[in-house]
Amino acid sequence: MSAPGRITHHPILGSLPEREPIAFRFDGETVVALERETIAAALLANGIRRLRVQEESGTPRGFYCNIGHCYECRVTVNGIPGQRACLTLVTAGMEVSSGKQLPTPLKQQAAVASHAKGVSSHAHD
Ligand code: FES
Repeated sequence: MSAPGRITHHPILGSLPEREPIAFRFDGETVVALERETIAAALLANGIRRLRVQEESGTPRGFYCNIGHCYECRVTVNGIPGQRACLTLVTAGMEVSSGKQLPTPLKQQAAVASHAKGVSSHAHD
């Protein structure tokens, strides 16, 4: 089985061997990978480029180095957070979820606390 974004014929290597399809889930949707394929390769082949959002700002993040160095591809795999999609091979039935924005960023909490402290110290002047 081939997704539209998957290379099946390489100009130097020729036709790539057929591999068995493997179904897994990404954010609740079924995605088809090929055996011995990483999560990153399977998602990219299926047109999925956003793997998480930056925890504080919510800006989208995807693959960057694709060799395990940058940690931009962090996802949660079977309940274990912080797994690198570019190094983790898909297994049948695997549950993968993207990284989400944290509800109350620490900087925002600190700013609110700092402002409240400033307001209360002026109240006693
Ligand atoms: S893309 Fe860089 S560690 Fe996965």
